[in-house]
Amino acid sequence: MKSKSIFVVANWKMNPETPREAKALAGQVKRMSGGLTKVKTIICPPNIYLPLLVPPRPSKKLFWGVQDGEVENKGSYTGGVSLAMGRNSGASYCIVGHAERRAKGETDKIIREKIQTALRLGLKPIVCIGEDKRDNHGEYLEVLRRQIGNCLGDLKKNYYADIMIAYEPVWAIGGGAGLADNPENFLHNALFIRKIFASMAGNETALSLPVLYGGSVNPKNAQDFIKEGRADGLLVGRESLVPEHFKQILQIADKTK
Ligand code: PGA
Repeated sequence: MKSKSIFVVANWKMNPETPREAKALAGQVKRMSGGLTKVKTIICPPNIYLPLLVPPRPSKKLFWGVQDGEVENKGSYTGGVSLAMGRNSGASYCIVGHAERRAKGETDKIIREKIQTALRLGLKPIVCIGEDKRDNHGEYLEVLRRQIGNCLGDLKKNYYADIMIAYEPVWAIGGGAGLADNPENFLHNALFIRKIFASMAGNETALSLPVLYGGSVNPKNAQDFIKEGRADGLLVGRESLVPEHFKQILQIADKTK
């Protein structure tokens, strides 16, 4: 069965600048998420803020994630923060393979290792995929096929149920791009992603795979991606830092499905 929850992921990236601002923002999101019925909100702050923000008691509506992490649990890796540390500090999700990490040299092979480590630790990976450029001949679909195959092929069968995929066309991400994809394209691409996933995970698991849209999500386009694009959730960057806008996105997501 298709999952009934809808996931809204706040990817704070390298923001905000102070722990004080992080606490204020998290407090607002906590209040917003409490009243929702269908939405599961996942905040992914910079790792350093995680222990300051995660409340002692787990919630059924608000979850925490890391944006990245090392595969080694501990050791002599100056500057590194491990996925295990994220898990031990209260995260239950991790973003893996974000375009901004790939741009820094992260390969499908590294992403695959991170996914396997996360799954072993009990962290649910939010696997980001997406093409740099959209062409009219469907060549970009090969990019998606390759990313899914390289990163998710031949995992242990029982791991597949813990994965979600965020389709984020790279050209739609971040301040420079400004333009989101459209819901119709997303719907086609999500079907394509689900079909490839089915060849690895089986049809039943593929039917319940959450496929999220990310890339310039805002209060104006959120409803269309969920309703027309049938997205199982949204991965929100910039607008997750603007409390009033993020609140609107959460409320739209809660009402739309
Ligand atoms: P954006 O970022 O919403 O600012 O485009 C999305 C993302 O990169 O996760």
